[in-house]
Amino acid sequence: MNYQGAGIVITGSGSALPQARVSNDALSQVVETSNEWIQSRTGIAERRVAGAEESLCAIASKAAQNAIAMAQLRPDQIDLIILATSTPDDLFGTAAKIQTEIGATQAVSFDLTAACSGFVFGLVTAAQYIRTGVYRNVVLIGADILSRWVDWRDRATCVLFGDGAGAVVLQADSTQDNLLGFELCSDGKLNHCLNLAFQGESKPLVEDTQVNLGTYQPITMNGREVYRFAVAKVPEVISKALFRADLTVDEIDWLLLHQANQRIIKAVAQRLKIPSEKTISNLAKYGNTSAASIPLALDEAVRSGQIQPRDIIAMSGFGAGLTWGAAIARWGKV
Ligand code: ACO
Repeated sequence: MNYQGAGIVITGSGSALPQARVSNDALSQVVETSNEWIQSRTGIAERRVAGAEESLCAIASKAAQNAIAMAQLRPDQIDLIILATSTPDDLFGTAAKIQTEIGATQAVSFDLTAACSGFVFGLVTAAQYIRTGVYRNVVLIGADILSRWVDWRDRATCVLFGDGAGAVVLQADSTQDNLLGFELCSDGKLNHCLNLAFQGESKPLVEDTQVNLGTYQPITMNGREVYRFAVAKVPEVISKALFRADLTVDEIDWLLLHQANQRIIKAVAQRLKIPSEKTISNLAKYGNTSAASIPLALDEAVRSGQIQPRDIIAMSGFGAGLTWGAAIARWGKV
C-alpha cells in the first residue's frame, strides 16, 4: 500500500491476566462435560477468570503499562488510547478511566466494540490516526472479561471463554511502514449466531408512553455456524490482506489468529498451506479471551523470543457481528 502520511511501527506489547485459573476438570463439576471433550473439540485446557476485585480497567491498564514500558515511552507521551472490548466496566466506556489509571495525561481515549475482531479493527482504526499525521503514539488495548456474561449452566459456551488483556504501542515513523496490508468485513445477516444481547420489558412510564427496561442477557452462540463461518472466511480475508500487502503466503513468518478453537487455527493454516510450526497458539492456557486473544498471544510470543524484529505476522480476528478482518504487520522497528 502507498500512503502519503506517516508510517506505522509496532514498538511495544504487554499483557495481563486475572489470578484465578479454572481447569477443565474443575468445570466438569459445574456442567456435564469432561477434560477429554473440551481438549479434543477446542484445544483448551484451562482459562483465567476475574474475581470481584479484578476490574477490566485494572487488567487493561496493566497490559498498557507493560506495552508502554517495552516501547520505552512515558505515559504522558501517549496521544491516543483505544480500548477494544465488549465487556467494559461501564457501558459509557472504560478507556478514559484507563487513561487516568496509567497517567497518560495528554491522551484522548475511547472504547471500540467489535467482539473478537476488536483488536484487528482497533489496529486499523489506530493506523488511520497515525497515517493522517494526527497522532504519533497510540496505545491499542484488547481486553475482555467474558466470564461476567457467560451462562455458566450452558456447557456449549461456558467451556470456551476466559478473561485477559493485551496491548500494543503503535508509533508514527517517517522511514518505514510496518502495517503492510489489511482487510475488514462485517455481515449482520448472521448476527443471530453469536449474541450478548439486551433484553427488555415494556413498562409504563406516563400515559401512552412505555420504556423498555432490562439488562444484557448471557452469551448465546450457534457454535457450528460460527465454526463454518470462521473456516470459510478467515483464509479469504487473510489472502485479501496479503494481496494488498503485495506478499505471498510463503513470506509470512507467523499466523496469529483469534484464539477461539485449535481446530479452527489448524483448518485455516491448512487451507492457506501454512505449516503448523508457523502458527501461534496459547489457547490451551487461556481459552477464548475475545478482543484480548491476539495481543495476549503476540505479547507472549515476543517476550519468549518466538517473534523476532522484522518478522511478518498475519493476524486475523473473527466473531460476533458477525465481523472479521486481517492485518499483515511487521513486528518492531528496524
Ligand atoms: N461437553 C460435552 N459435550 C458437549 C459440550 C461440552 N462442553 N458442548 C456441547 N456438547 C455436545 C453437544 O450437546 C452435542 O451433543 P449431541 O451430538 O448429542 O447433540 C455434541 O457435543 C457436539 O456438539 P457440537 O456443537 O456439534 O460440537 P462441535 O464439534 O461443533 O464443537 C464448538 C463446538 C467447540 C463450540 C465449535 O462449534 C466451535 O468452536 N465453534 C466456533 C466458536 C467460535 O469460534 N467463536 C468465536 C467467536 S467468539 C466471540 O466473538 C465472542
